[in-house]
Order: sequence, then structure tokens, then C-alpha cells
Amino acid sequence: MRVLVTGASGFLGGHVARALERAGHEVIAAGRAVPAGPRRFVRLDLARPAEIAGTLDEARPQAIVHAGANPDAGACERDPVSARVVNVDATAAIARWCAAADAGLIFFSTDQVFSGEGREWNETDAPAPVHVYGRTKVEAEDAVRAAGARAGRACSLRVALAYGFSPSGVRSPVEQVVSVLRAGRPYTLFTDEFRSPILADDVGSACADLLALPELPPVLHLGGPERVDRLVLGRAIARAFGVSEATIVPCRRADAGMHYQRPADTSLNSALAGRLLPRRPRTLAEGLAALAAGDGSGVGVIGS
Ligand SMILES: NC(=O)c1ccc[n+]([C@@H]2O[C@H](COP(=O)([O-])OP(=O)(O)OC[C@H]3O[C@@H](n4cnc5c(N)ncnc54)[C@H](OP(=O)(O)O)[C@@H]3O)[C@@H](O)[C@H]2O)c1
Repeated sequence: MRVLVTGASGFLGGHVARALERAGHEVIAAGRAVPAGPRRFVRLDLARPAEIAGTLDEARPQAIVHAGANPDAGACERDPVSARVVNVDATAAIARWCAAADAGLIFFSTDQVFSGEGREWNETDAPAPVHVYGRTKVEAEDAVRAAGARAGRACSLRVALAYGFSPSGVRSPVEQVVSVLRAGRPYTLFTDEFRSPILADDVGSACADLLALPELPPVLHLGGPERVDRLVLGRAIARAFGVSEATIVPCRRADAGMHYQRPADTSLNSALAGRLLPRRPRTLAEGLAALAAGDGSGVGVIGS
């Protein structure tokens, strides 16, 4: 299948593009800057939603994995107007084009759509975001729904906190924890903020598996099998990469000066994904061991 991937220059989009190619798809990367390498590329700026349909008319993908976004919650908080254009208006334009062309759509949403006052959220739980980033993703999910795609052709994939190697070398919690601890600098980790981390390569595989289904579910949760707090995650990363945990500083959220509200517990219940998809995300131990052994199926090596 000819699949256009937005955000292919980024962390998760890069893993998606490689997983789709492994599955035999023809991948078209869509983004702002021409990437190195032989992959077909089309210029597509999410900050210019009015131009998106024309670009897609030319590229004529049979499916789109829309992973491009402004995923930086702090940046969204500082500039909500731009965040809305990139995260909502661009998604709406892509969803409308897919509905009109009957192309499949996997839209990358997030666990951050939930309030955090609960745990192991289901697809049927009501989103109640506490920050701008989360609100833009909920509005984008609404836009995907409103675009009127044929049943089974569009999916809002709510991805949990992902770990792995990223092209920038700084996007993933693995890269952040290892580089700070290796430098012997303090790293504050919350004991009361819970996520269900998933290996980025497994997110890519899940997208390939989703595209092979006869029908996409309208909403799907995709997290790893464990609910852990940030401290447990950080310690597991340190152990897997053999770096000292001595400068880890356990902390409660209330004791940290947070610049904006963050949801406390956005752990996802991914049972539906477990039933629909043939491959299961790896456990934290399995995923970290694969990365430490250099088998993250992705780019990047953590600098010393
Ligand atoms: N990482 C996570 O743990 C996580 C968890 C849940 C959901 N998500 C979602 O997954 C998706 C990917 O996130 P990520 O972590 O991979 O982020 P990332 O590494 O920052 O990648 C973001 C991608 O979006 C592209 N992009 C940003 N603004 C653009 C614009 N105006 N026009 C075209 N492309 C633009 C970037 O391209 P440039 O290279 O040009 O900047 C980059 O390829 C996002 O939708 C995010 O909300 C991520």
C-alpha cells in the first residue's frame, strides 16, 4: 500500500515509517525539510492547513499515518494559537481529504487527553484534558470523527508515553535519563505520576498491523503492559543502560514547581489493541533490554 507518513522526521513517525517499510508498504514521508535517504518525500507544512489537500491530491496515498504535530506540551501552553493550527486544523484537513478519497487514516492522539484523575483509561472513558496540548488532541479527534469517513477507515490512536531512540537524540525518556545520569547531574523523577510506557518500535509495528486489519477501530489505546510511575521508569532505564542511579531525586508532584498542569495518571488500558492486533507491545524489561543491546529497530545511540 502507498502510505503517507507525516512526522516521519520525528521520533514516532520515524519508527512508523521503518515499520511500514518492513511490512512491504511504499512510504511517502511528508514534512517541512527534505530528509537524507532514498525515501520518497513531499513537502507538507502542518502550519499551512489550506495547502494540505493540494499536496495530498498530488501524492495520492491510499492511507495516511498522521504522526506530525507539535507534541511539546510546554510549547503548546506558550503558543496555543499556533498549537491549534498545527494540531487541530491540519488534522481536520487531512481527515477531510482521507474521507473524500476513501483513504485509511491513523491519527496519532495521546494518553494526555485524560484528566489524570483515574487509572488504566478505556477507549469509552470521557477525555477531559488539563492542558492546551491535550485539548488540541481532543479537538483533533473530534475533527477526525466529523470528517465523515466511511466506517472502519479512520482511527484516533491514543499512544502512551513512548521510549526508544529518536533522531534528535533528546525526545525519548531513555535518552533524557541516560544522558543526565551519565553526566552525574541530578534528575528529578515523580513518584506519583503514572504512565504505561511503550517501546517506540512497537508503536510502529502496531501501525503496520492496524493497516492490515479489514476495519480500523474509531479509537484505540496503545500502551505498554505495565503502569509505572516516573521514578520506576527512570530507575529501570538506568539499570538497563548500566548508569548510576545515585543522582536520581525522587519527588512528589506537589513538591515540584510545575509551569503548567499535567495529568497525574494517564495509564492506558490497551486490552482492545491486544484483541485486535497480532503483536503485543514488549514489557518494559524486554523493551529496555532490546534498546541496550542496540536492537531498538531505530536510529540513534545515546552519547556518552
Ligand atoms: N513521544 C511520545 O511519547 C508520544 C506519546 C503520545 C502521543 N504522541 C504523538 O505522536 C506524534 C509524534 O510525536 P513524537 O514524539 O514523535 O514528536 P517529534 O519527535 O517532535 O516529531 C514531531 C514531528 O512533527 C513534525 N512537525 C512539527 N511541526 C510541523 C509542521 N508545521 N509541518 C510539518 N511537520 C511538522 C516534525 O517535523 P520537523 O522535523 O520538521 O520538526 C516531526 O517530524 C505526535 O502527534 C504526538 O502528539 C507522542
